[in-house]
Amino acid sequence: MSSNRLAVVTGAAGFIGGHCSRALLEDGWAVRGVDNFEPFYDRSIKETTIRELSRLSRFSLVEADLRDGPAMQSAVAGADVVIHLAARAGVRPSLEQPELYTSINVLGTATLLEACRRAGLRRLVFGSSSSVYGDSTPVPFHEDAPATDPISPYAATKRAGELLCGVYVQAHRFRIAALRLFTVYGPRQRPDLAIHRFTKLLSEGQPIEQYGDGSSERDYTHVDDIVRGIRGALDWVASDPPAFEIVNLGEARTVRLDYLIELIGKTMGVTPQIRTTPMPPGDVRRTFADITKARRLLGYDPQVSIEEGIQKFVRWYQGGIS
Ligand SMILES: NC(=O)c1ccc[n+]([C@@H]2O[C@H](COP(=O)([O-])OP(=O)(O)OC[C@H]3O[C@@H](n4cnc5c(N)ncnc54)[C@H](O)[C@@H]3O)[C@@H](O)[C@H]2O)c1
Repeated sequence: MSSNRLAVVTGAAGFIGGHCSRALLEDGWAVRGVDNFEPFYDRSIKETTIRELSRLSRFSLVEADLRDGPAMQSAVAGADVVIHLAARAGVRPSLEQPELYTSINVLGTATLLEACRRAGLRRLVFGSSSSVYGDSTPVPFHEDAPATDPISPYAATKRAGELLCGVYVQAHRFRIAALRLFTVYGPRQRPDLAIHRFTKLLSEGQPIEQYGDGSSERDYTHVDDIVRGIRGALDWVASDPPAFEIVNLGEARTVRLDYLIELIGKTMGVTPQIRTTPMPPGDVRRTFADITKARRLLGYDPQVSIEEGIQKFVRWYQGGIS
């Protein structure tokens, strides 16, 4: 069904964009990646991802900044759909650099949407975040919750991105699925994120800084499940009527921080040394996805338990197997 179809994937050099691009190429799509190798973390990690994607036929890269309107307009020309994953990610650093996050995530998203409109392209999948629920939404998080109290600039920029998407559906008849991704992990996970950081520290025999008493909880979602959700969203945006749906993609299971650390230690065969530090500002205490809507709308059915996912992650970390 997807042969000869072209998907533009923004953030293709990144963690999720790289997995998503590879999956689409395997499904028979042509993929045009857009990325500016933003220096949030080591460029060589992104270059490796692009090198591997470039070995597959039907992949091309546009090295450009989201905020460059003419470049975005030519990047999306002739495409069937855009999967918008490029962003400055990370909750905590956004408290230090709110202007940068706003520029990339809000201005960048507006520029991309406008480029799509000018190019006559109206189908888009947007990578939003569970962080939009903040700390006051009751669990499990449901898409109908107001999500009006984000507690970090990053979360606010993601909510702004969703609202901009809604405008393009109302004003310009787009069809958009905004996917609220819940803490994503897997091979090539961003080095700043907990699972990657803890695995590195344990492999170096260093202590782990545990925020709070270990009782904070996250709905960790394996990247293979996120890719399943994106595939479902691509089918959904392929229909005709203009529509906007916000959909949670999580595992619908919360994992305590102390259990996560213990699990990584057990998988690596080491006993973690733990140093306790206070919870940093911007971090929510608990995330937990209600995925009823994703199941109904996207046929989403997450498969990877945290125990299996951590085994896969550690295997990748130790042996480079992705
Ligand atoms: N990883 C998670 O747990 C998680 C959770 C919720 C939402 N998300 C969202 O998913 C998306 C992908 O996240 P990720 O973890 O793969 O992050 P990532 O940093 O690995 O990937 C983002 C990519 O976007 C690119 N980029 C940044 N600014 C750009 C710009 N101005 N122009 C062009 N490209 C630019 C970066 O170079 C990078 O390759 C992001 O939108 C993020 O907000 C991620």
